[in-house]
Amino acid sequence: MASSFNGSSVLFVISALLLFGATQVTPMDYLLPICKTVGGGSTFVGIQFCMDTFHSDSRTAHGATYQELAAIAVDLLTANATSTKAEIGGLLGGKTADAATVQCLRSCQTLYGGILQRQPGSAAAVKDGKFSEAISSLEKSAATAKECEDGFSKSHVPSPVMVENSNAFQLAKLAVALLRY
Ligand SMILES: *[C@@H]1O[C@H](CO)[C@@H](O)[C@H](O)[C@H]1NC(C)=O
Repeated sequence: MASSFNGSSVLFVISALLLFGATQVTPMDYLLPICKTVGGGSTFVGIQFCMDTFHSDSRTAHGATYQELAAIAVDLLTANATSTKAEIGGLLGGKTADAATVQCLRSCQTLYGGILQRQPGSAAAVKDGKFSEAISSLEKSAATAKECEDGFSKSHVPSPVMVENSNAFQLAKLAVALLRY
């Protein structure tokens, strides 16, 4: 009797330690079901992109609602679009680009200007719970990033901002998916 009591006590302590250890190692596991929900059936946003995006942001460390996650995605889109626009400016300032690439880059610079103009409105709409307004603005921005990328393929020149366009597109679509749930 005494030994079996000790046995289960030890088991209890061990499982408590394992459980504690497990939660310590993966404090942001709550994101996985959320990312599976918004990314699982989506052809636009992958589960991995969702996980990588929110793991990289310290604001998600202690739990966040769908609305808060959408706000973070919108913030990241602003940061991304800002750095992409600057990068495009840098590419235009360089001498290496051919005429067709330069023309595409100019159009992308304008397109990213449009994304950045919409962003404060999108952020405010998310914050105020005006989700349909935010969704329509974010859908425009996703389409805008795609338009930039499509410009290069139509001109048959490689896109120097393919990764950036893909990130902007996916961030906008991720925010939209979160707002729809
Ligand atoms: C751009 O988006 C990616 C993908 O979500 C993110 O990891 C990165 O931190 C963002 N870049 C900036 C400059 O915010």
